[in-house]
Amino acid sequence: MAMNTTIYKQCIAILDEKLPPISNLSNLLALLFYEVGSINWIGLYLYDAKNQECILGPFQGRVACTHIPFGKGVVGACCKSQAMIVVKDVHQFQGHIACDSASRSELVYPIKKSGKLVAILDIDSPILDRFSKEDQIFFSKIGDLISSLLERSTLIEDLIQR
Ligand code: SME
Repeated sequence: MAMNTTIYKQCIAILDEKLPPISNLSNLLALLFYEVGSINWIGLYLYDAKNQECILGPFQGRVACTHIPFGKGVVGACCKSQAMIVVKDVHQFQGHIACDSASRSELVYPIKKSGKLVAILDIDSPILDRFSKEDQIFFSKIGDLISSLLERSTLIEDLIQR
């Protein structure tokens, strides 16, 4: 937990309100990817309500799946429940979408803007049952930090344009 507290302080310190949210978000994800131990992927899936799917957003890690339909996989299940989901063993999760075969456990958290779902924060680990209660609190705080970055911006809406 002490480690998470230090990382959280670093996350706060790295944010610069004079920068556009994409710059802060990019640095935040890089910081987390390299400072949080035993994770192999961290990023956002952007919720496209019109097309009822999530599309790949900014991330750190290996090349990932680009489209995840609402309700499918861990990410799609989080879209549906709009609550954190912690998967201790991805092989036991019906419908898990394997982007990186190294992934063994996963945590997803809904990112909301003005109360509406805009993205899913997704973190993968190569370790079984990687995410403790403390980690769950930590990543919910990170998710809320990302929500606050997006609150006064149209970043996600702009990113899903195609
Ligand atoms: N495992 C996710 C897919 C995204 S990757 O983990 C980056 C899922 O089942 O939705």
